[in-house]
Amino acid sequence: MNHRSHAATASTGVERVDGSSVAIRPERPDDAEPVRNLLRAAFGVEKVVTLVDLIRASPGYLPDLSLVAEGGGAVVGHVMLSRLALRTDDGGRLPILTLSPLSVAPAVHRRGIGGCLLRAAVADARAARESLIVLEGDPAYYGRHGFERAADRGVRRPSSRIPEAGFMCLPLTPGGASARGAVEYSAPFWVTDCIGP
Ligand SMILES: CC(C)(COP(=O)(O)OP(=O)(O)OC[C@H]1O[C@@H](n2cnc3c(N)ncnc32)[C@H](O)[C@@H]1OP(=O)(O)O)[C@@H](O)C(=O)NCCC(=O)NCCS
Repeated sequence: MNHRSHAATASTGVERVDGSSVAIRPERPDDAEPVRNLLRAAFGVEKVVTLVDLIRASPGYLPDLSLVAEGGGAVVGHVMLSRLALRTDDGGRLPILTLSPLSVAPAVHRRGIGGCLLRAAVADARAARESLIVLEGDPAYYGRHGFERAADRGVRRPSSRIPEAGFMCLPLTPGGASARGAVEYSAPFWVTDCIGP
């Protein structure tokens, strides 16, 4: 597995979050169980735990772009970017990313940890010359971090079960900004039914 060294990671660093230190770094194999527990606590449903396990076992897994937030020796946050494709209107296929899931331990919500993870993931994707990030989420939350309604950019959701306003995107390159087409979810999202609210 290609785990990038911490020193080379755009995201790696220690941030002061609400008076305490939180380190953001790529996940390691030994984070798998703490991340499962975090996902259970944050989402309260097992299908998101299965989603992350299936993404890790899939060709779309990008270990350098799955990050954890560590505070007080514990994993307190996690974000995963994984590979999808955009079937473009001119007949091509553009490799893109989806940001899912994002989670923070309930005991430390609203201290900026989610925002730190989001900014780090976007910075790493940009540094890796990725074209476009899509996600399902609350427009109020992700809009603050630069995400826009994907339909407004001609980027169509992979399922009509996803509310149009909740399918968002962030272009990172001119190619990503001009791309138009339909997003195709990878198998882990269909298998776990992690699609829509
Ligand atoms: C969403 C989540 C990751 C945010 O983490 P966090 O560390 O609390 O986020 P931050 O501290 O960076 O930002 C908190 C701010 O975002 C707002 N916020 C948090 N979740 C929100 C949501 N779903 N919709 C809109 N705003 C939200 C908070 O009100 C807060 O704003 P305020 O302090 O001005 O009131 C966290 O609440 C979580 O793990 N939730 C459960 C899992 C989940 O729903 N993940 C998102 C799936 S797309």
